[in-house]
Amino acid sequence: MNYQWYPGHMTKARRMMEENIQLIDLVIELLDARIPFASRNPDIDVLAKNKARLIILNKADLADPSANKKWISYLNDLGAYTIEVNSKTGLGVKNIQSAVQVVCKEKIERDRKRGIIGRPVRAMVVGIPNVGKSTLINSIAGKSSAKTGNKPGVTKGKQWIRLNKNIELLDTPGILWPKMEDEDTGLKLALIGSMNDQIFSMDDMGYELIKKLQLLYPLVLAERYPSTAGKTDPVDVMKNIARSRGCLLKGEELDLMKASGILLDEFRNGKLGRITLELPTKEKQ
Ligand code: G4P
Repeated sequence: MNYQWYPGHMTKARRMMEENIQLIDLVIELLDARIPFASRNPDIDVLAKNKARLIILNKADLADPSANKKWISYLNDLGAYTIEVNSKTGLGVKNIQSAVQVVCKEKIERDRKRGIIGRPVRAMVVGIPNVGKSTLINSIAGKSSAKTGNKPGVTKGKQWIRLNKNIELLDTPGILWPKMEDEDTGLKLALIGSMNDQIFSMDDMGYELIKKLQLLYPLVLAERYPSTAGKTDPVDVMKNIARSRGCLLKGEELDLMKASGILLDEFRNGKLGRITLELPTKEKQ
């Protein structure tokens, strides 16, 4: 199975991020709370070395609340200040301001010692496609009244959103391509819908999701699709989903592809409940 995929426009996106990163003090790195490892591109560590970092577990509303806690504690223990956010409703967005003060404490202190007082921290949101960068920026911009225009000393055409007198956010996010280091990472990214459904076929994804759910959340499938109760073979499970949802081809043949699509949609929009597909390393669970 070919799980490497790198479209040409990403080269341009990366160049733009490299340019923008020079302008900022702080990287706000968005991860998908359902797959924090798989949705992270470690290239950011090189691209943004020497910058302060805040990690946001976005789409926390779709992820398992107890897993969110585990991830936050795991990442905080590693020294990466982490908060959870639902950018869609804005829940948790207000915590960003205080988190920025914490992660930029050293920079603010350094500035103060040099007699630079009141220079705002400049931040940029980065993350893989579909992780919620624009939604977060809009949520922040919606709450903040001021958008600042071009400034002397700052590349022309950049728009900064002022969160408060201490923090400004670049309105263009940095796009990182997901790093599909192995097939399981690619699969998790596909399951959450983080890339076009091109790499794994729809029915492959459906069966793989069933297997993961059976392992991680054994009750979930039977709760949503009662006729699958007691079924262990993924094909049997899918057939029962197809039957219960009236997914039929000509004659009485079951349309398993359609059933797979329904299962994926319901997983992606939270109808199966709040589900996290990976936990921090074993020692931390
Ligand atoms: P990007 O800039 O990183 O590419 O992502 P974008 O903001 O476009 O968000 C991608 C999708 O994720 C959007 O859904 C958006 O509404 C959704 N989203 C972003 N943040 C959150 C969150 O915290 N929780 C939930 N549940 N969803 C989030 P969409 O299907 O493309 O659009 P729509 O259905 O919202 O109209």
